[in-house]
Amino acid sequence: MLRPMLDLSRVLTRVRRGLHAALADLPTSIQGDTNSVAPAVPQQAAEPSHAKVAWTEGLPSEIAFWDNWFKTQGGVWSEDYKTRLNPDTPLQQTVEDYLPDPAGDAIQEILDVGSGPLTMLGKRSDRRKFRITAVDPLADAYDRIMAKHGVVPPVRTSWCHGELLTTRFAPDTFDLVWAQNSLDHSYEPVRIIEQALVVTKPGGYVALSHARNEALNGNWDGLHQWNFDHEGGDFIIWNRQGRVNVSKLLQSRAEIRTQGDDTFVHVSFRKPVRGSLRTERRFSGDGPHGGSRAHPGDRK
Ligand SMILES: C[S@@+](CC[C@H](N)C(=O)[O-])C[C@H]1O[C@@H](n2cnc3c(N)ncnc32)[C@H](O)[C@@H]1O
Repeated sequence: MLRPMLDLSRVLTRVRRGLHAALADLPTSIQGDTNSVAPAVPQQAAEPSHAKVAWTEGLPSEIAFWDNWFKTQGGVWSEDYKTRLNPDTPLQQTVEDYLPDPAGDAIQEILDVGSGPLTMLGKRSDRRKFRITAVDPLADAYDRIMAKHGVVPPVRTSWCHGELLTTRFAPDTFDLVWAQNSLDHSYEPVRIIEQALVVTKPGGYVALSHARNEALNGNWDGLHQWNFDHEGGDFIIWNRQGRVNVSKLLQSRAEIRTQGDDTFVHVSFRKPVRGSLRTERRFSGDGPHGGSRAHPGDRK
């Protein structure tokens, strides 16, 4: 189920590369502050200030893309447009797989980071009660675009940079933090993963699905300034300034699984139940949590 959604995202990305019209009214909120969670990435590897300049310059093309997407009601991807707007679209099985078994009537919390104006997550499940929180740095611009086109989203995206999640959400808030085709559009993706792990509940997941080496394949256009790759089972993020083995960097903070092929990279980070992470078994199929859930990818 994930594959077709990603295929579409990738095609959308390619179309976006052809768009150069820019909206002048960038939201004032694009200039985020830093926060207090210490980053794990050495400054010289990530080059965040350089990346943020490129990111800021790429925002108009992102806004222009979505404006056109609403204007044409998804264009050739009209089915995707309708699916995202439909409040009865079922939660994707891929996403269900990351969630714990429901406990009574408890509402499970899902965060979609870099959701765009209309989260791609389904809104209904027969198995569980859940709430989607969708965040994106361009939420203000998306609101203006949707108002212009008379669209009311089933889940309204609210403003937050992925890099600033802990300034908005308390630790241990979400059962699942989801990000698709978004963190490689950010200015500091490793920091987003660190932030996402803080706001994820112990035992919960941060799940990422991205096209492989999107910046390279897209000729470093617009917001495509980071490449997500896999190498020997490790998750790698790189750009022209540096390269980070995220699996090694964060191995003490999460149980990490990376899967990929020529086209995609899927990574899940399972936040340990306190005191339970044994990093020496990071890639073992035998989970370190005493028989608790394996990563969903392990079952495929
Ligand atoms: C290609 S769109 C993907 C949207 C959605 N996830 C999907 O799959 O349709 C990339 C999104 O990433 C968002 N983004 C850019 N920088 C970000 C950041 N620093 N933190 C979170 N999201 C970011 C963009 O604003 C944009 O909405």
